[in-house]
Amino acid sequence: MATTGSASSVTAIAVALTLLAAMASAELTRLEHPVVGGSPLRLLVVGDWGRNGGSNQSRVAEQMGKFAEETEIDFVVSTGDNFLEDGLAGVDDVEFHESFMDVYTAQSLQKPWYLVLGNHDYRGDVLAQIDPALRKIDSRFICMRSFIVSAGIVDFFLIDTTPFPLQYWTDPGEEHYDWRGVAPRDAYIANLLKDVDDAMKKSTATWKIAVGHHTMRSVSAHGDTQELLELLLPVLKENDVDFYINGHDHCLEHISSRDSPIQYFTSGGGSKAWRGVFRQNEDKLEFFYDGQGFLSLELDENQARFAFYDVFGQALYHWSRSKANLQLVQLPSVGATEE
Ligand SMILES: *[C@@H]1O[C@H](CO)[C@@H](O)[C@H](O)[C@H]1NC(C)=O
Repeated sequence: MATTGSASSVTAIAVALTLLAAMASAELTRLEHPVVGGSPLRLLVVGDWGRNGGSNQSRVAEQMGKFAEETEIDFVVSTGDNFLEDGLAGVDDVEFHESFMDVYTAQSLQKPWYLVLGNHDYRGDVLAQIDPALRKIDSRFICMRSFIVSAGIVDFFLIDTTPFPLQYWTDPGEEHYDWRGVAPRDAYIANLLKDVDDAMKKSTATWKIAVGHHTMRSVSAHGDTQELLELLLPVLKENDVDFYINGHDHCLEHISSRDSPIQYFTSGGGSKAWRGVFRQNEDKLEFFYDGQGFLSLELDENQARFAFYDVFGQALYHWSRSKANLQLVQLPSVGATEE
């Protein structure tokens, strides 16, 4: 009797745990961004911006508007730290007007904004910032924890990276992080990685681009994020993700990986910048600018073209990758392994 009882309670616990895991791990929300056939997809990426227009936020916004008007962009991606220093206090926070609606006013920027959260957003009311109620105030603002934006030839995997760095949990200092719906960390991250991996495996897009707030590789103040290198990078490599785009460090940079085709782009120059920190990275630094600006990305079936722009609208750096070239480059190594 006793044996049967304990066995069945073990079974009951196992069933309950399986159910919990199944409930927590779910398919990521996928948004279809309508695309115009024939023309390349164009978007801007900006990060670390909401300061009521201050610290050159307005100047970056103005240049984004001009650039978007000339090139007719499809949408904007934000790499997080949307409202500094402490996120939004609620859905009716005036910050939403003063740091977003009243700053990115250009007609050309009245396009969807797909946003991830940064660590500073987690210092406010996260549930408010991801509340669809904000879309009733400004329909551009599409912010979720982790989701996919499919735009024809490209799938963007927007990933909630703030739960990764252990330090926010174990050593938050004066800061309070809003972990509602996230804690406990380990289960959240395990489920998220599984969901991202599943979604990437299902993706048939030509280009796969991951977006998160935190750096993977960076030569500026925050440097690399070890937890992302250990936990998220293997998932990106496994699924042949082309690029990882982040904010967090208030600069513009491009670093290429020495052991995979992945390229790292930091676009965190939406407002306060000029940290004056430079630390060499193990991977290969291609470009670094310590000031404000934004990233433009243009994609078609064969090519991805990146460019960084500063507060004067001057192009600082251009870089492109071609799918055809990449395949050609990979051919000799395929031959080599067969020998
Ligand atoms: C604004 O941008 C200009 C030009 O890069 C720079 O000289 C100035 O220091 C910037 N202001 C701030 C507050 O970063």
